[in-house]
Amino acid sequence: MNNIIQVEPVIDNSELEELKKIITSRYVTEHDLTEQFENITADYTNSKYAISLCNGTCALFCALKAINIERGDEVLVPNITFISTATAVLLAGAKVKLVDVDPKTCCIDTKKIENAITSRTKAIMPVHLYGISCEMEEILEIAKKYNLKIIEDAAQGIGVSYNNKHVGNFGDFGILSYYGNKTITTGEGGIILCKNESDRDKIYMLKNHGRLKKGTFIHESLGWNFSFTEMQAAIGLAQMKKLDFIIKKKQIIFDKYKNSLKNNLLKMRDIPTSTSNTVHWLSNIFCDDAGKLSDYLKDHKIPSRRIFYPLNKQPCLKENKDVIKKRGFLGKEENFEGSERAFNKILSLPSSVYLDDEQTEYIIKTLNNYN
Ligand SMILES: Cc1ncc(COP(=O)(O)O)c(C=O)c1O
Repeated sequence: MNNIIQVEPVIDNSELEELKKIITSRYVTEHDLTEQFENITADYTNSKYAISLCNGTCALFCALKAINIERGDEVLVPNITFISTATAVLLAGAKVKLVDVDPKTCCIDTKKIENAITSRTKAIMPVHLYGISCEMEEILEIAKKYNLKIIEDAAQGIGVSYNNKHVGNFGDFGILSYYGNKTITTGEGGIILCKNESDRDKIYMLKNHGRLKKGTFIHESLGWNFSFTEMQAAIGLAQMKKLDFIIKKKQIIFDKYKNSLKNNLLKMRDIPTSTSNTVHWLSNIFCDDAGKLSDYLKDHKIPSRRIFYPLNKQPCLKENKDVIKKRGFLGKEENFEGSERAFNKILSLPSSVYLDDEQTEYIIKTLNNYN
């Protein structure tokens, strides 16, 4: 069996048609289409404001700046996430304090948060990973008790809800990513969700050279250029029309795996009941040894993906690296048994919307023969 793809964007003529309109209009930088995309995203996520940025990493950075994160501050980050949750904190000048994850969900372990808080802690960054929401009720309670800000990294979270509220709406800010492997994509791209106009303006100033309007050269504050483009918005609008279809299709793939697995060594992951809507943008399986299963699948021409490597073990964090010494990743010497377990036991199976029945059946048969 050939050509099984792990994950790929659902992109076709409809994106091309939208793009053509932009190319012929010659209006390529952020304009009306970007605003439409922001409004549609705000509606879909039930957020008051949605502001587009060039990618999710810059969105995290701007959200951190907007809550006034500064040098010397500490920000709590789960030990399993894409590295940019942490590097955005470093870029904002603060220190990352690592917190272990719950191995069943890969989300920050709420029981371990309070231990990581010091007098310098300013914020928590819960990351909603692989279609599961963090336990936001508990996180909100802790944040209130210690007067901490919350920035939700919902880069993978479009369509995911916690107790019927879309993720990204619980904290001070929430971010989404539209990187190519996400549920929907704009190539690169990101969104910040927020609740009030003054926060919206802060983000807009940060992403637009410290001014609220383009076309003026009077800059009220310092900012950068993290703009979206009309091409991204054109693709994004076409993608939004497919979002429900993609989510359904991903659920069907996950259910097929789940209902056909007959191997005691393997189990599709469970979704906590607090995640009222999940999105299996990657179908995750629990197994005895993720490395062994991945090699076995590779021998059968089936691609898979290991989950994020625990941050405390990343080679770029070795003691002698300057950036780490000067800025700091705190707590990396602690015991991260939850992260270790998650990394060793969880594997992402092929999750492309284009998987056909024959391919899915072949994957299931191969999984059932694993020993
Ligand atoms: C959890 C998480 N955070 C942050 C990011 C960064 O987003 P971007 O690639 O759009 O910069 C990603 C993915 O790309 C991610 O998966």
